Amino acid sequence: MISTRVEKILKNPILTKEDIVYLLNTRDKERLALFGKAREMKKDYVGNKVYFRGLIEYANDCKKNCYYCGIRAGNNRYVRYRMTDSEVLEAVMFAQKNDYASIVIQSGEQTNQAFVSKVESLLKRIKKQTEGNIHVTLSLGEQSEETYLRWFEAGAHRYLLRIEVSNPELYKKLHPNNKTHNHSRRLESLNTLRKLHYQVGTGVMIGLPFQTISDLADDLIFFRDFDVDMVGMGPFIEHVDTPLYQYKNDLLPLTERFDLSLKMVAILRILMKNINIAATTAMQAIDPQGREKALMVGANVIMPNLTPVKYRQDYLLYENKPCVDEDAEECKSCLETRIHMAGDTIAYGEWGDSQHFQERIKKD
Ligand code: 5AD
Ligand code: SF4
Ligand code: FES
Repeated sequence: MISTRVEKILKNPILTKEDIVYLLNTRDKERLALFGKAREMKKDYVGNKVYFRGLIEYANDCKKNCYYCGIRAGNNRYVRYRMTDSEVLEAVMFAQKNDYASIVIQSGEQTNQAFVSKVESLLKRIKKQTEGNIHVTLSLGEQSEETYLRWFEAGAHRYLLRIEVSNPELYKKLHPNNKTHNHSRRLESLNTLRKLHYQVGTGVMIGLPFQTISDLADDLIFFRDFDVDMVGMGPFIEHVDTPLYQYKNDLLPLTERFDLSLKMVAILRILMKNINIAATTAMQAIDPQGREKALMVGANVIMPNLTPVKYRQDYLLYENKPCVDEDAEECKSCLETRIHMAGDTIAYGEWGDSQHFQERIKKD
């Protein structure tokens, strides 16, 4: 049997940047060999289980102006909302009743004290209502160490903060150049979260203007070097109300951005065998079977949307976002069918901590 270059690479215990670039460029049979290996790694290390994280898109107010994002401060097309406490608690109740075991509270970035205290009190109410049985992840942007600590003590133990791109020069092209948008501050936030013993998740967008294959390989190496516990990443999808829309015609076609995203998931599963990797909603914005395809090449987490339907059209970070009209119940049954089609089972009732995190704290 002829040993192809991809087979040789996949046998290497540690992949070099050159190997990763090669894998990102694979086509046809070599691409399928990559996907096959990733699927095998998933089965061997994390099993065929999918963990649900009920997603609550808590508020769409954001002080930032990222050039790619639909809810950036500068876009006044959306009505700004914040869910009431009882709406949040109702969504939490749905998660609990349906055995989701874990929720994510996400919003645009707000750092004022009223917001910080509101989140803190909500966390305490959630803990009380669920008797500590629901695991809470936050995704509320860059905050001070004091805020992260207050939220940790109020009951949040996981945090998602995408680095967006690991290359600081590229970061500058995708954000205004000012104190609020600063790559090193974002990195510092990730380090602070780690120091405070959060389980830390990060991620990137794939197929951005000016982004190269070499940048994407560096993103994967960044996850490995940072020793991250969870990753959520997906294709960049241009939004008409954002500055990056002007580069629409220079982007990779959507199908290629999707394929690159699948390869990123597959390579990451090979690089970091026991972390949690999300099959992100943006994957499904391009391909109706996007999330199942991501599960088949290594992802093991899905975030069913629990946001009340009336707010969903105001949380459009990118175009074609799925599930805008479907409520929590519909998304649940839709995902059950999809996950079974991908050959996985849903780990109802399990917190699904990243195994990587558990092993990391044993070493610390
Ligand atoms: N396309 C894809 N993902 C996007 N995000 C923001 N805007 C877009 C877009 N246009 C992602 C960012 C952010 C996450 C909440 O959504 O990575 O961290
Ligand atoms: Fe705000 Fe996040 Fe959108 Fe940036 S990506 S504008 S921080 S919601
Ligand atoms: Fe929401 Fe399919 S997951 S409709």
